[in-house]
Amino acid sequence: MVIAIDGPAASGKGTLAKRLAEHYRLPHLDTGLLYRAVALTLLDADRDLADADAAAAAARGLDAAFLSDPRLRGSAMGEAASIVSAQGAVRAALLDWQRRFAGAAEGAVLDGRDIGTVVCPDAAVKLFVTASAEERARRRHRELDGRGEAVAYEAVLSDILRRDARDADRAAAPLRVAEDAVVIDTTALDADAAFRAATGVVDGRDRA
Ligand code: CDP
Ligand code: CDP
Repeated sequence: MVIAIDGPAASGKGTLAKRLAEHYRLPHLDTGLLYRAVALTLLDADRDLADADAAAAAARGLDAAFLSDPRLRGSAMGEAASIVSAQGAVRAALLDWQRRFAGAAEGAVLDGRDIGTVVCPDAAVKLFVTASAEERARRRHRELDGRGEAVAYEAVLSDILRRDARDADRAAAPLRVAEDAVVIDTTALDADAAFRAATGVVDGRDRA
């Protein structure tokens, strides 16, 4: 069983994906980390994020060991990831990687922007997790605060709006709701309530 989870920044898709993976005992891939790792590789090598050849080479040579680098989690890397992820060659280089992960015998949970639309169009379950931009900014602001990254709420909100627009407006695999996805709006749902809504969808599909 493949569970595809997409949605904008700080919608709660990662938290949900992790919990569903534990609950159904499936491996989980946070695909945003792949794009963050490509961005970090370029920055470490002093390359421009818009350098298409260097970005594609970094994506092709991506080392899985790199995905646990704590520098990937910061807000600057989310922004940098969104710049490199707009490049078609980067996306193409990461596609096989993601599909191999999703092809595990027992199934998998993947979360990102284009899992239900491009990476796993035949996924058994597709969820689109969203929340108002203000609620997402509040969550990300709280998270950054907890990590000691002091950023004003307004700056977090404008960051999120800019990144959403870039992800939704790009030509290559833009962020959009797959036709057969179930939308879970978490604006008024905590992580437990979102998890209950999602297992309702997954288990309902098993009975159907
Ligand atoms: O993966 P994504 O960027 O979509 O979001 P996340 O990392 O799962 O969640 C962002 C923050 O919101 C985390 O600190 C979560 O604990 C919190 N969260 C929440 O407050 N309510 C939810 N329903 C889901 C997540
Ligand atoms: O956690 P958050 O939603 O803030 O970011 P992320 O999921 O780590 O993704 C960082 C950036 O990578 C996104 O803004 C997208 O531009 C890109 N991304 C993508 O294009 N496709 C994916 N499947 C996952 C991430």
